Amino acid sequence: MDTTASPLDLANPIATLPPTFRWGVATSAYQIEGAVDEGGRTRSIWDTFCEVPDAIDKGDTGEVACDHYHRMPQDVALIRDLGVDLYRFSVAWPRVQPRGRGPVNPEGLGFYDRLTDELLANGVEPWITLYHWDLPQELEDAGGWPHRDTAYRFADYSMLVFDALQDRITTWTTLNEPWCSAMLGYAYGAHAPGRRDFAASMHAVHHLLLGHGLATQRMREASQSAGGQHTFGITLNMGVPTPQTDSAADLDAARRSDALSTRIYLDPLVHGRYPADLVDDLAKLGIALPVQDGDLDAIKTPLDVLGVNYYFSETLSGVDEDGNDTDSAGLPVSRVIPTGRPITAMGWEIVPEGFTQLLVRLYTDYRLPIYVTENGAAFDDEPDETGYVDDADRVAYFDSHIGAVALARQQGADIRGYFAWSLMDNFEWAYGYDKRFGIVRVDYDTQERIPKRSAHWYRDTIKALRS
Ligand code: FCB
Repeated sequence: MDTTASPLDLANPIATLPPTFRWGVATSAYQIEGAVDEGGRTRSIWDTFCEVPDAIDKGDTGEVACDHYHRMPQDVALIRDLGVDLYRFSVAWPRVQPRGRGPVNPEGLGFYDRLTDELLANGVEPWITLYHWDLPQELEDAGGWPHRDTAYRFADYSMLVFDALQDRITTWTTLNEPWCSAMLGYAYGAHAPGRRDFAASMHAVHHLLLGHGLATQRMREASQSAGGQHTFGITLNMGVPTPQTDSAADLDAARRSDALSTRIYLDPLVHGRYPADLVDDLAKLGIALPVQDGDLDAIKTPLDVLGVNYYFSETLSGVDEDGNDTDSAGLPVSRVIPTGRPITAMGWEIVPEGFTQLLVRLYTDYRLPIYVTENGAAFDDEPDETGYVDDADRVAYFDSHIGAVALARQQGADIRGYFAWSLMDNFEWAYGYDKRFGIVRVDYDTQERIPKRSAHWYRDTIKALRS
């Protein structure tokens, strides 16, 4: 941990962050690129899901998005002007390896090659994420993440990208938020591919982790033989589940939530085993994780950095309104209880103290260097006649959450950097374009980018810490 931080200053915790703390902005491929049929890109599960009636708010799709594929140099200039050190972006698998198998598509790869060069030429370090949810449709047709072969396909794809860009990119993230891929995609049906099968989602978890492990092992081996200095990690989304009361049912609801969102990933990644309580819970449902010999060794391959995405925390009850602790299907009840805190446009409660708690807990239990790879908020922005958004609510969110990061550092957590989600308004998955997370406004009629007050605040905050 950096010991040069100034003493704790509760009135302005952000001022305690050291000048070495690193700052960035984040995006993902499908949310900004558009150009879904260009350069040899094939379909991903999100192209398909966007065609499902009612799957996406207002029938929005990622077809054009922010047209970043055609406006990349201009967007990199925007990033440079924010004065950040890092830009976190993801690679669209079906652009680089159409259909998810076979050789690289030079045209698709060329886009990320140019993006990398453009960032470096502008003094911004690229931070690459290999998978931010856009699985090639052909791999879903063959079974998707519940199917073991997808893990091997992911490792092959990762190597195609690593071989091409490892000479210029240091930090490599395998997966973004496997919880969302597995649960929203295969259990709840809210995200692509829209399946509702809890057993399949648990199989997806294991194969996502296996894919991460196999890809990391192969990239690290290649890095070592190239004498490279690369950093490998994974990004998880987590919160702190708080039981509503001390009742056994509420405590158990919080335990189950923690098991399914945090320990199911970090225990195998760090300790090489799935949590015993989770394995028991699954056994009661007749579900066994599809672990084969050697899998857990691959999954616990060393990690250099843990990426943490935080948006909110929840208070949970283990009983329904009538006091029952199981539902009509005999499954244990887990009910989110509103606490009356202010909420964002997503309906998510604003809980900065949960962020401090989470970061300290993660460092205490898993001892990995941490980067906050996403944090931010959607609000109902109201642009003035020039398109400018005076988003005091978003500024307050960033201020309290970056403060929460500073407090976690003061409590000993080794947190090295922070990425704001997001550089610009974009396609917010099932919510379409209605929910705006950007610090830069995108006018979707003209594709004009207009920095919001939060962009100016972010730039000035970073600058002040360096002066
Ligand atoms: C995260 C995703 C990101 C974005 C934010 C709001 O779960 O990683 O793509 O949608 O939420």
